[in-house]
Amino acid sequence: MSAVILVRDPEIIKSITVKDFDHFTDHREYFSEDVDPLYGGSLLMMTGEKWRRMRAALSPAFTGSRVRKMVPFIDAISTNIVGYLHKQIKTEDNISDEIDVEDLMTRYSNDVIASTAFGLEVNSLVDKSNEFYVTGQKLSSFTFWDYVNMMIVSYFPNVAKDSTFVIASTLKTELKQNDNAGFATAEECELKTDENSKEWSLDELAAQAFIFFSAGFDSTATVLIMTVHELALNEIIQNKLYEEVKAISDRNESLTYDIVPQLQYLDMVISETLRKWSPSLVMDRVCVKPYELPPPRPGAEPYRVEIGETVYNPINCIHMDEKYFSNPYLYDPERFSEGNKKNIQPFTFMPFGVGPRNCFASRFALMELKVLLYHLVLNFEILKCNKTGDPIRLKGGDMNIRAVGGTWIKIRRRNIDISVLKSELRLETRSKPRVGSERLESGLKMNQDIEVKSDMRSEAIEK
Ligand code: HEM
Repeated sequence: MSAVILVRDPEIIKSITVKDFDHFTDHREYFSEDVDPLYGGSLLMMTGEKWRRMRAALSPAFTGSRVRKMVPFIDAISTNIVGYLHKQIKTEDNISDEIDVEDLMTRYSNDVIASTAFGLEVNSLVDKSNEFYVTGQKLSSFTFWDYVNMMIVSYFPNVAKDSTFVIASTLKTELKQNDNAGFATAEECELKTDENSKEWSLDELAAQAFIFFSAGFDSTATVLIMTVHELALNEIIQNKLYEEVKAISDRNESLTYDIVPQLQYLDMVISETLRKWSPSLVMDRVCVKPYELPPPRPGAEPYRVEIGETVYNPINCIHMDEKYFSNPYLYDPERFSEGNKKNIQPFTFMPFGVGPRNCFASRFALMELKVLLYHLVLNFEILKCNKTGDPIRLKGGDMNIRAVGGTWIKIRRRNIDISVLKSELRLETRSKPRVGSERLESGLKMNQDIEVKSDMRSEAIEK
């Protein structure tokens, strides 16, 4: 076993992740490619030159123009969620029963990743046990014992020769049959034309599709769950957010990629959730060239990090350190206001990691979070109920960020007649094929589906 070093100093984190990145280019290998071709062969686990080439080849999947094209798909799935929630509201008091937010948000992030990455139409609120959702649940319910298991596997790889994920065959079939459906699959074409890249094998491509699914499923769901929980507990913040969302909705026909950046308070709210409830607990780097760390205290010796040793940067501990964020347990989006965020010390807020090895889907992830929260807050008041944990305490025995007892809320319908009309107008407009879209076919299929859902929705509202 090689040494593991915990680094909490922002300057040293900067050196390791950015300035001297060439000494620490790799993530720690939990599963080798031999043991598990999907996880072990994914971008997250790839090392050295192979990682560099794959990352360069995959990067176009998340450019602004790509994410722009995904917004209508994300918007349509958000509309499904809102339609479903309208149906939960009782006519007598305009309030719903208790809603299980964990269930709702994991279904949303499942459908978004299925649609945008794989070009599959999945409505997990209707088809409750679809294969995508069930697999995602298995992947994300990572308990303490799974973690122990993972450690054993990483130290004794042969123990786990048979470990494969259920999704493997689905992904390979998708990649074979569906060459232009979503960003995970569409990249296949781009990879072949990329001068810097080689021809990637089907296994290598399946591994990238797999990591899009597994990395994207739980992280975004976590941020949504914890944001909704905090909004239920913090009425003033929720009202301020509603005012912003309402003002944007009053000024615009629909929510588009270009309008999202105007939602500045929403950005502050999400940033605060990412600080307080960061889904990633640590950021790891493996030393590939010996490196000298400065002495930990005056008079001490410098420490030489040897090849193969791992450095952990504990994201979560730094986000919750009052040296960098005063009163860290307080949920306070104002920390990220225009005036305040310049006071945040660099390398102390790192929800998506930092440097060349950071999360390469952060732009997409933020869009996914913002679109749903916009619709949710515009349509409903999020209410605390008897089952809403207050204060929020984290569940133990689980590697995911989840509240003890889950996240439960009630919702009250806002006065939304105008926005309902607007969303229906938007859905009709979208039923026309978008010229120049490489996913025209799946877009069309989706729009047919939405027409039905939009009817369903008006029915629900009339009730
Ligand atoms: C709120 C949502 C998300 C958070 C907080 C998050 C966070 C992170 C973090 C902390 C890392 C490691 C960065 C580092 O070591 O410096 C990472 C890497 C990665 N993330 Fe995300 N992520 C999110 C969403 C997503 C989504 C939606 C996808 C894919 C669709 C994704 C795909 C990846 C991949 C492939 C890597 C590995 C990058 C590499 O090694 O080059 N993430 N993410």
